[in-house]
Amino acid sequence: MQAQAKKRLAAQAALDYLEDDMTIGVGTGSTVGEFIGALRERRISLRGAVSSSKATSALLRAAGIPEVELNDVGDLPLYVDGADEATIHGSLIKGGGAALTREKIVAAASARFVCIIDDSKLVDVLGRFALPVEVIPMARSYVARRLVGMGGQPVWREGAVTDNGNEILDVHNLRILDPAELETRIDQIAGVVTVGLFARRGADELIVAGDDGVRRISP
Ligand code: 5RP
Repeated sequence: MQAQAKKRLAAQAALDYLEDDMTIGVGTGSTVGEFIGALRERRISLRGAVSSSKATSALLRAAGIPEVELNDVGDLPLYVDGADEATIHGSLIKGGGAALTREKIVAAASARFVCIIDDSKLVDVLGRFALPVEVIPMARSYVARRLVGMGGQPVWREGAVTDNGNEILDVHNLRILDPAELETRIDQIAGVVTVGLFARRGADELIVAGDDGVRRISP
């Protein structure tokens, strides 16, 4: 089965977590695109959705789903998002689509985080996918030097500007054995806006789609 077909399967399985008249958080990426497509196809009505990016806002608008501001709705019952890598413990690497900061905010404000992935993203140890770090532009070189000091090899995602007007460093060569500890350490570097490690607030449910269908993991 093609990766996109697996993403669609995982996205459809996430519909099971919806209840009537819910306001939910919606992540970013092609798997989330399938989720929004499934909401549209099945005519599932939501009270509203908090978006994690401009790209997702456009998809929500096209699907006729009302977007609401996080500031206006308080905590959310559910957040649905994809990931670039995941462990069975629910730790994630996110930010391949550069939306990591808003994604982390919406995940933090949500009671339940359902993460939808295809099985190629399930790993024993995070780090094969280069770890995205959103940085304040003037701090890019400083943060890069600190990341080299931690054993990583940061590469500037040239030309990428986040929805918050910041830049992205993708950190290669990390073998992340303790994701929560590394998340805390990178967060403490001056100039870092967000690191794409989601370990302190990881996924509550993983929906992993493979050739044999969907597997649900509750870390
Ligand atoms: C965006 C993300 C995405 O969740 C991640 O990149 C996965 O994307 P896709 O569903 O397209 O594979 O973190 O910042």
